[in-house]
Amino acid sequence: MIEIADVGVRFGGVHALSGVGLTVAEGETCGVIGPNGAGKTTLFDVITGLRRPTTGTVRLDGRDVTAAGAVQRARLGVRRTFQRPQVFGRLTVLDNVLAAVEWHGGGGGLAADLLGLRARRRLADRRREHARAVLERCGIADLADHYAADLPIGRRRMVELARALADEPRVLLLDEPTSGLDGEQAARFGEVVAGLEATVLLVEHDVGFVMAACERVVVLDLGKVIADGPPARVREDPAVRTAYLGASA
Ligand SMILES: Nc1ncnc2c1ncn2[C@@H]1O[C@H](COP(=O)(O)OP(=O)(O)O)[C@@H](O)[C@H]1O
Ligand SMILES: [Mg+2]
Repeated sequence: MIEIADVGVRFGGVHALSGVGLTVAEGETCGVIGPNGAGKTTLFDVITGLRRPTTGTVRLDGRDVTAAGAVQRARLGVRRTFQRPQVFGRLTVLDNVLAAVEWHGGGGGLAADLLGLRARRRLADRRREHARAVLERCGIADLADHYAADLPIGRRRMVELARALADEPRVLLLDEPTSGLDGEQAARFGEVVAGLEATVLLVEHDVGFVMAACERVVVLDLGKVIADGPPARVREDPAVRTAYLGASA
């Protein structure tokens, strides 16, 4: 589903990524770990189309999307959350989720806009019901009518997740989703992610969470992939222990 080959990103003299190759199969849940500045967020930016790599190619579902923008990739079903949650602060939680489905349009064109046709109203009701169900799944149904800006960061992360899940993502990228969540919220987050059919890439600080939630873990250090495999093997990898796990333990 995701195929990255020889990707490099340079910021002036900084090699944020160099020679990165990564293939993630459809439906796989793959964790990405590594110290601060390793290039994890930059990798997400390259996959989602927010940053054009200096070298290399990105393929999604077999298509070369290296030159495609973020909107085109979103239309292929790519969704993400951000290390600093990005919600529509002046919209309610429910409207944040509805915003993610309304780009499909209401059907019926201008006439339906002007006349408020019954079919249009039924569609709007169905979407509202669906959005509420997504909030329920994310454990924030009680916040539907709150403005997103008023929520603490952990709740905003759940709003972002709900919005990302609103129209069946095919590829979901989560950037440090459990930071700012308490234990119970993180567990809920893990459950929701475990139940997804989407291909998931998950950047996480909490190594325990990654090892539990992912069937595979990729380790980045200084812009390079230094390990890639099942959690148990990655945990024992001497290079990983030196670069990361040892340092954080
Ligand atoms: N917009 C930018 N301009 C300049 N340097 C950047 C920019 N974004 C990231 N970097 C640098 O690229 C490297 C990788 O950053 P990042 O991808 O954010 O790492 P991580 O998410 O693993 O902490 C770091 O050295 C960072 O300082
Ligand atoms: Mg980051």
